[in-house]
Amino acid sequence: MKSAILDYIKEIQDTNIETFKDRAAEVEQFRIKYLGKKGVIASLFDQFKSLPNDQKKEMGQLLNQLKTAAQFRIEEFKNFVEQQQEQCDRHDLTLPTDFSTLGSRHVLSVVMNEITEIFSRIGFTVAESVEIEDDWHLFSALNFPPDHPARDMQDTFFVEKEEGKQDVALRTHTSSVQVRVMEHNQPPIRIIAPGRVFRNEAISARAHCIFHQVEALYVDEKVSFADLKQTLLYFAKEMFGEQTQIRLRPSYFPFTEPSAEMDISCNICGGEGCNICKHTGWLEILGCGMVDPNVLEACGIDSKKYSGFALGMGVERMAMLKYQIRDLRLYFENDLRFLRQFDAIV
Ligand code: DAH
Repeated sequence: MKSAILDYIKEIQDTNIETFKDRAAEVEQFRIKYLGKKGVIASLFDQFKSLPNDQKKEMGQLLNQLKTAAQFRIEEFKNFVEQQQEQCDRHDLTLPTDFSTLGSRHVLSVVMNEITEIFSRIGFTVAESVEIEDDWHLFSALNFPPDHPARDMQDTFFVEKEEGKQDVALRTHTSSVQVRVMEHNQPPIRIIAPGRVFRNEAISARAHCIFHQVEALYVDEKVSFADLKQTLLYFAKEMFGEQTQIRLRPSYFPFTEPSAEMDISCNICGGEGCNICKHTGWLEILGCGMVDPNVLEACGIDSKKYSGFALGMGVERMAMLKYQIRDLRLYFENDLRFLRQFDAIV
């Protein structure tokens, strides 16, 4: 019996938990084997009862030693399993990787950034301003006559429109940023203002009540129409490619005089005529002109000393032409099949 007990003690001491596959379960088996009701130690105690008295002292001590060794080992194993479990919960390196998909910039942000970047290369800095504007910055300072249709509820979302009070509305164009900048700065001024604008329009493939514009303003001594034209040509080539040509058509905006609209040669058919350019070979891109002296004066700039040019374009339209997007609504629906097409563009 003595040698059996000594063998068990040695066995217990030699057991290595690292060899257990299912650790928690095998620790429990180990416990049952030694300390279970029908386990090794219980049966040795049974045998102990029938030992002659002179052996009982020694065997009793040995048995107690065996029992303590088993209890100690089991406690040790249990702690080990617990610690392992905690580490697994925190960081299980054996789990398959979670391939989280990277998002991408929205095509409108991409195009807006590109326009801003092209202008920043020739010294324009970004100006940002509020989306809820008052009548002065939206219309009056920009030389809009009192009865201009833009001042009508049909075109503009008014936030406040009360007799005797200044009207407040969601800005209908980024031209209001021109006023904000000129009020607080004297020339030379060279800014680009990208931002969101709002108009009371029914939503369709060609119109939306929320869209984006980029506005540019350059005011200094002796700024001429030639400066405007050269800037436009530079922009068109940078944006749509070196082969791009431009043409200017006379137009009207209250805040510029003279005013023009710029077309670029159709980048799809190369000017031959196609569906996109309605067989004219030209695509309408933006509005522009020389800042009306009334606007300069309204903003506290001496119109005898300074002149300037301004231009404004729709970002949705630029993106449509650049990536041949046919329906404005796609920009706002956030359908992943649409958005993922621009994954590669940063
Ligand atoms: N604000 C005009 C619009 O929303 C666009 C525009 C035209 C801006 C001519 C300009 C400009 O700065 O010179 O339709």
